[in-house]
Amino acid sequence: MCGIVGYTGPRQALPLILEGLGRLEYRGYDSAGVAVLDGSGVLHTAKKAGVLSNLETYIDSGAIALEGTTGMGHTRWATHGGPTDRNAHPHTDTSGKTAVIHNGIIENFPVLRAELEHSGIELTSDTDTEVVAHLLGAAFAAGPTAGDLPASMAVVCRRLEGAFTLVAAHADVPDTLVAARRNSPLVIGVGQGEMFVASDVAAFISHTRDAIELGQDQMVVITPTSWEVTSFRPGESATTDYRPFRVDWDLAAAEKGGHEFFMDKEIQEQPQAVEDTLRGHFDGTRIVLDEQRLGEDELRTIDKVFVVACGSSYHSGLVAKYAIEHWTRLPVEVELASEFRYRDPVLDRDTLVVAITQSGETADVLEAVRHARRQRARVLAVCNTNGSQIPRESDAVVYTHAGPEVGVASTKCFLAQITANLLVGLALAQARGTKYADEVAREYEALLEMPAAVAETLTLMDPVRQLGRDIADSKAVLFLGRHVGFPVALEGALKLKELAYMHAEGFAAGELKHGPIALVEDGLPVVVVTPSPKSQPLLHSKLLSNIREIQARGARTIVIGEEGDETIAPFADTLIELPRVPALLQPLVATVPLQILAAEIARTRGYDIDKPRNLAKSVTVE
Ligand code: F6R
Repeated sequence: MCGIVGYTGPRQALPLILEGLGRLEYRGYDSAGVAVLDGSGVLHTAKKAGVLSNLETYIDSGAIALEGTTGMGHTRWATHGGPTDRNAHPHTDTSGKTAVIHNGIIENFPVLRAELEHSGIELTSDTDTEVVAHLLGAAFAAGPTAGDLPASMAVVCRRLEGAFTLVAAHADVPDTLVAARRNSPLVIGVGQGEMFVASDVAAFISHTRDAIELGQDQMVVITPTSWEVTSFRPGESATTDYRPFRVDWDLAAAEKGGHEFFMDKEIQEQPQAVEDTLRGHFDGTRIVLDEQRLGEDELRTIDKVFVVACGSSYHSGLVAKYAIEHWTRLPVEVELASEFRYRDPVLDRDTLVVAITQSGETADVLEAVRHARRQRARVLAVCNTNGSQIPRESDAVVYTHAGPEVGVASTKCFLAQITANLLVGLALAQARGTKYADEVAREYEALLEMPAAVAETLTLMDPVRQLGRDIADSKAVLFLGRHVGFPVALEGALKLKELAYMHAEGFAAGELKHGPIALVEDGLPVVVVTPSPKSQPLLHSKLLSNIREIQARGARTIVIGEEGDETIAPFADTLIELPRVPALLQPLVATVPLQILAAEIARTRGYDIDKPRNLAKSVTVE
């Protein structure tokens, strides 16, 4: 996600800001920018698409003077609007005196943008952030909060829905930054006669280790020698639930949020990834996609869906097939992108091809998309990288707002993909009328419960880590599941192969007796993903029989099941409990222990889980 850094103090701000942005590069970004207040009440900004060095080269060319002791910088991970100079932050208002940087997604920005345009303001970017700069500039210029930057910020924040960390400066308010947060992180760095604000401590750790983490809906005003935290909620002012702390991590650990590996951090970020992916996709009555160049009329005529993807993204498609077919009554075929175009699939204008790709540039998927378009099929991309090739070549897009994933093996992107795929299913169901509006709303509400369920799952993982250490010497591990548990089993096996270089296979549990059961021998760990006994009693009983079959042949049974399911305990050598969730959504929680198991086995074997051998994050060759 975007990186944010702000500074006010006695030193020149620009070098400190650029250094901070450099420390935040690991977060991933596609453009960068800075704003500095000079001593004479003028605000100067510079921004460039691409890597930070593009911005540095531009500044070094002397094209713009950026002298001053208060300023802010931003690395942008595009959400609304492609990665261009114009969309890079900071954004300013029409007076050019107010500058704002932002991390997050402002859900009600279309309404706010329309309001600004109606009042005659011409917006110069496609971003949700620019509306904040105009609103803030207006609140500071006139009305009850005129001339009071913190009060203006509070008024504006109250109008925003969604997630945001904001930092703002105004040319008429020297030596001051105002920052606010809701659902996105913000920390203050308290130095000697200087202050920092940043999206994480890595940005300022080489200057101060005294930090304060802001609470929800809080804002802070910093000057070189002071900081004051308040709440921007109506009726609340002074507030004390912010968290002062001293950073004792080294720089490398700071980038990883104190975790040993990025993958550990990314696993912990999964509740947020699911929440951010859902954000803004329901307007109170209908599901809304991100870039919809396919009208509802066209969606209504769709009579067949192909999902094309590779690896984990393919597994996310397999998970979604169950829900999409159930909700839309459309046939859904999930296909490996590398196979798709070589077998002459039957495609026409009424076919929807859903291309799932976190990178947006996987060659196999890109070629599958091009093939589909040549056959006049419509293409909808599910992607984590705004502005990448596959969304550009598609008719519609749903972005997975997981933020950048540094670990090569997909974790948070996988959960975000499942979430986005389900949104696609609901959008199709509403267009086709196979679900009433209130049913769509109920399914969306059930999805809204999932970030909390994933977070709860993460608190139950200590036994899984212990299990990982216990079975790290095994030669192989099998994974079994039925229904949506089957793709989860495939994903569990893939994670183990790629991270721990261990032989692992995922099977549909019912297929076991048709061959794979021959692999079962004494002590072989077999992980079984079990459905809910309440919502899927028939499947549950079949799976119990499968567990008995493998236990009878000496397997070490590792059973993942719903909390309170007493029937599975007698057959589980290790029992891993999950919170109770709707059957079609179980993969969002059931995948988590499998990721952690694979990571722990790999760690115990001494491997770097962020960079598995032979693998690349983005595969741009067929
Ligand atoms: C596995 C993994 C890969 C990717 C696959 C597709 O952990 O990350 O299997 O899922 O290479 O990549 P994208 O989603 O970028 O098309």
